[in-house]
Amino acid sequence: MKGKNFFVAGILVVAMFIAGTSVGIASDQDICKEQIKHYQLMKMNDGLLPGDEFNPYDYKGVEAAAKAALENEGKREHNDKNHEAISKLVATHLEHIVTAAGAAKEGAVESVGHSMRFLYLSCKACHKVYRTEMRLRP
Ligand code: HEC
Repeated sequence: MKGKNFFVAGILVVAMFIAGTSVGIASDQDICKEQIKHYQLMKMNDGLLPGDEFNPYDYKGVEAAAKAALENEGKREHNDKNHEAISKLVATHLEHIVTAAGAAKEGAVESVGHSMRFLYLSCKACHKVYRTEMRLRP
């Protein structure tokens, strides 16, 4: 009888482990695959590309992409303090982009560009710490 209980408990533990790895927990890879799309949408609108003087700056598009990225960043799970701290940096710069692009005031393009640079460095910081060998861009 005792042996059987151990067996049932063992199956439960294995089942919980499988459930935990396949659903629920969002991996860095899942989060980042989405982050790069939002990042590129913002980047395409940095107002510095040749010919951009003919395209009006897409404040709404940048704001929407930054908002989506911010929400996505919030889903990241942390196993240690550094991971959490770097993710917070990313979130902070995204917030600045949401604010600047949302206000769409004089100088907003430059403010967004400024925060984009820090965003790039913050994304990069995490990759440098956790996945140096992948040479990710950012
Ligand atoms: C808290 C840490 C962390 C932050 C912040 C972070 N990343 Fe990542 N990122 C990772 C890790 C870890 C991987 C490697 C995942 C794996 O094992 O394949 C990764 C992978 C990627 C990949 C490759 C995904 C693929 O196709 O396999 C891209 C692209 C990426 N990150 C973009 C970004 C961008 C853009 C940002 C900023 C908005 C960002 N990341 C912020 C940790 C982070």
